[in-house]
Amino acid sequence: MNFGDLDWRILDRLRSTFLQEKFGSAAYWQSHRDLAQYHATFGERIGWKWDAVLAELASLGWTPPAGTDSLIDWGCGSGIAANRVLAAFPNLRQAGFNDSSPLAIEFAIQQTRRLHPQVETRTFASNNAEGALLVLSHVWNELSNEQRVDLLKLASTASAILWVEPGTHETSRDLQTVRDHFREAFDIIAPCTHQAACGLLATGMERHWCHHFAAPPPDVFTSSDWSRFAARAGIDLRSLPYSFLVAQRRTPGAAPRPDNGWERLLGRARISKPYARILSCGPCGVCDTEVPKRHLPDWFKIFKNEEEPRRLRWTRDGDRATSIESPDS
Ligand SMILES: C[S@@+](CC[C@H](N)C(=O)[O-])C[C@H]1O[C@@H](n2cnc3c(N)ncnc32)[C@H](O)[C@@H]1O
Repeated sequence: MNFGDLDWRILDRLRSTFLQEKFGSAAYWQSHRDLAQYHATFGERIGWKWDAVLAELASLGWTPPAGTDSLIDWGCGSGIAANRVLAAFPNLRQAGFNDSSPLAIEFAIQQTRRLHPQVETRTFASNNAEGALLVLSHVWNELSNEQRVDLLKLASTASAILWVEPGTHETSRDLQTVRDHFREAFDIIAPCTHQAACGLLATGMERHWCHHFAAPPPDVFTSSDWSRFAARAGIDLRSLPYSFLVAQRRTPGAAPRPDNGWERLLGRARISKPYARILSCGPCGVCDTEVPKRHLPDWFKIFKNEEEPRRLRWTRDGDRATSIESPDS
């Protein structure tokens, strides 16, 4: 589908549904056309968040655990998440799709067959994800409490979990809680650099949330189609906040994965004239660090230009950085 075929009657309806705080069981996919419209627009934006997560996993050198040759995209919608993950991990040979909408499953399977003809596709309708990579994307706030419990039970059977949600305060903090629930049996691969309790769940940290920002591909900013779409949909293309969790089942009896020695930047730097302030999370908890423009001008510029590295290591004098290193810049 190209942008000349956008149907704003459908896109407006979908967008107003997504903007509701909680929207329950009503099936909003009314036709194949709904899914195609979503896939090319809102779905593609979700794809950019997946690109950021998959780039982070590549920089960590992470691939699905040995013996994992299938994925399950649960709450698949148009299948954008599965398709990004299949492109990143070509060893995956099978893909199962689940959604409360049969139309969505059908669409996701069609897309996958077109983009990844070597992958065997099927409907997934089980409560056991053993041996599979469980892919979850933008589904949490559509579920009742009971459905959430069932989903977490399913997730606890998977060999690894790749989960991306919007970067809202509420959903990100839910994901933090889920992360702490899973850290007993799973190693947390990302965004955390450690296996300790989530520092943002500590008392006093309630106003913060673990979220990040993805960048759209550069050509989006020069595309008249995307700029017309953004204006009409009331979307800021530059702002793509997301939260995510990647976890891998630990072999029973094995020690938790060691800390990787870095802190993970949270959100965006807060910039004022003399310094940037950075919230970061590591094995010792969450720190708020001042980066003075005068002493660390190159780093100040990096933060000001929103070119933040994901991982950081500091030396500090109190809460003021005296040196910074990062494998990402
Ligand atoms: C916002 S869409 C996201 C779709 C896709 N995962 C993505 O990231 O583009 C949420 C999807 O979850 C599905 N969904 C909602 N409740 C569900 C449930 N109880 N079981 C399975 N799928 C559900 C919806 O039908 C919809 O396709």
